[in-house]
Amino acid sequence: MNITTDQNDLPVFPGLRSQRCPFDPPEEYAGWRQAEGLQRVRLSNGGTAWVVTRYEDARAVLTDPRITADARLYPELRSDSRNLPPAFPRMDGPDHARIRRMLTGDFTVKRVAAMRPHIEELVGGFLDEMISAGAPTDLVRAYALPVPSLVISLLLGVPYADHEFFQKHSNTLISITTPLDEKTAARSALFGYVLELVARKERDPGDDLISRLLAERVATGELSREDVAMNSMILLFAGHETTANMIALSTLTLLRNPEQAARIRDTDDPAMAANAVEELLRYLTIAQDKINRVATEDLTIGGQQVRAGDLLTVSLSAANRDPSFLDHPDVLDITRETRGHLAFGNGAHQCLGQQLARAELQIALPALFRRIPGLRPAIPFEDVMFRHDMSAYGVHELPVTW
Ligand code: HEM
Repeated sequence: MNITTDQNDLPVFPGLRSQRCPFDPPEEYAGWRQAEGLQRVRLSNGGTAWVVTRYEDARAVLTDPRITADARLYPELRSDSRNLPPAFPRMDGPDHARIRRMLTGDFTVKRVAAMRPHIEELVGGFLDEMISAGAPTDLVRAYALPVPSLVISLLLGVPYADHEFFQKHSNTLISITTPLDEKTAARSALFGYVLELVARKERDPGDDLISRLLAERVATGELSREDVAMNSMILLFAGHETTANMIALSTLTLLRNPEQAARIRDTDDPAMAANAVEELLRYLTIAQDKINRVATEDLTIGGQQVRAGDLLTVSLSAANRDPSFLDHPDVLDITRETRGHLAFGNGAHQCLGQQLARAELQIALPALFRRIPGLRPAIPFEDVMFRHDMSAYGVHELPVTW
């Protein structure tokens, strides 16, 4: 058991990944996973929490009804602004389920399958542009960000022309080091923007999720306009940052593992590409922060006594590298069957957009390596700037050439 009285002595979470192995979780996580009980850590907002690093413990925490994500009851679960209505990922129980149900229809396997030809077309368009603009280029700006950004914009009905505005504010929001007042300002700016968009859609509806929520849920009194704006903002934000980082970081990982890149490039088997994406999701597990919960009663997790009101933070990356979950967890092997990983979380809050993210990755990665077989980094590996400071890990930029 780890009990430290002075909070300044506690290790900081999330930790820093080593520049030597930037695809691996911070080195100390393996020690925490092996130690008895749970490790106590200091969070970036100054609070303290128990960090959960073992695979079975992570699943248990994310599915235990005595453990909550509800920021209305536990304001410490709110990462920034307190002056806006809570979004459904920070609710629990029937309220969370009710709103989530209103949105799931747009993210089912079937709906996403129907979107695939359109995503393929968009991906092809961005590749055409990138190739005709010529090398070198920053893959993040030219490809990894635009693909998911355009897809989620179309789905929600957000004009893509405004992407620079919402990308700038999203970046502020997910930066671990941004001061609280700047995060609050960014969230308010984004909220104001979406609220205005909701008003426009009310006057002039389109074939999109926001217009549908207005017609089906606001008109019936089930949701307010503010609810629609808040939850659309969450989707806009969650929908592009994470997937963009997975596209860029996966590309870099594959460039470092050329024989595995060749497999993705040369296969015409969609099952092979799908499997490769699952393994990349597991191996890279980019959600490195903010998987926070509170115990609502005294309980024991991983042999640790946890008191009612204690904050728990789950390290999905440590859990996905747990040798009790799969053999040789630190090896990337896109041919192995990777099932049951926690890159999208687990339980009631498991990622709503996971099918969409999978489709985007399954399309964007093979297409990139096929269209540009000579793709290679334009800078030495040591000079790549990793996003240690962001909730979604990845690279700030990825200069490439061909
Ligand atoms: C590779 C890309 C993605 C990764 C790695 C990822 C990861 C995650 C994780 C780990 C969670 C669980 C958070 C928790 O338990 O506290 C989550 C939840 C969520 N994700 Fe994703 N996500 C991705 C893409 C997307 C996309 C494309 C969308 C939307 C369009 C999306 C929307 C959401 C939403 C709305 C939630 C909250 C669900 C709830 O609380 O009920 N995500 N995501």
